[in-house]
Amino acid sequence: MKGVILAGGLGTRLYPLTHVTNKHLLPVFNKPMIFYPIETLVKAGVTEIMIITSGPHVGDFLGTLKNGQELGCTHLEYAYQEKPDGGIADALAIAEDFADGDNLAVILGDNTTDADISKPIANFKDGAVIFLKKVTDPKRFGVAVFDPKDKTKIARIDEKPDKPASDYAVTGLYIYDNKVFDYIRMCDPNYIGRNQLEITQVNNFYIEDKALGWEELKSFWSDAGTFESLYRSNEYWAKKELKK
Ligand code: TTP
Repeated sequence: MKGVILAGGLGTRLYPLTHVTNKHLLPVFNKPMIFYPIETLVKAGVTEIMIITSGPHVGDFLGTLKNGQELGCTHLEYAYQEKPDGGIADALAIAEDFADGDNLAVILGDNTTDADISKPIANFKDGAVIFLKKVTDPKRFGVAVFDPKDKTKIARIDEKPDKPASDYAVTGLYIYDNKVFDYIRMCDPNYIGRNQLEITQVNNFYIEDKALGWEELKSFWSDAGTFESLYRSNEYWAKKELKK
């Protein structure tokens, strides 16, 4: 299993902080945001990692992460997303050569969690696994719609629905087999009309293929892409670290 961290995007909701540097290098308590997803992967035994980034501050990554050794990476490489807001699936497409047929653990660069994902990674065979989290504001996310006949199965994922069918948000942690790249090629940029290749469409392709499993994240998880969620993430990690 190899790891991919998606750190493209424009981070417009965090202006003017993202005029200073890339969103994923902003501090979350005592370290840059991107350290968290790297540490989640390394803790789970995934040490060959690609970081996909874009935007005006890409050079800042190299100076911050260097070759990743200090964080436990055995291999760290960087790639550039030409269209910074092409979508999460557009960013992931860039990792095809890096994956070289292997399975991938993918984390969005603004997601922090203290969940241990080693078991799902070790047990992964094929298809895809997504990680759900019960949230109070599901409208902001992809939302799992469970099969009414079998509540352990996801029937569909709705992207940012007006009327969420559940409180279970699809987080930015995913495990994919190599078919993901074929599914990305099938994506429609107008899937929800924002001219982006949507990871929700990719996950729905896996569902149609009966190849999508899921796990619930029981411990802390949050994105940090808005001032509110950035504040919440800082608060959580500060409290946790200061308690040590
Ligand atoms: P978003 O928060 O949806 O998008 P963004 O980072 O561009 O922020 P904003 O909406 O405020 O402009 O993206 C979530 C994560 O997904 C982000 O932290 C990085 C990754 N991403 C990419 O790598 N490439 C992309 O094209 C997009 C849209 C996101």
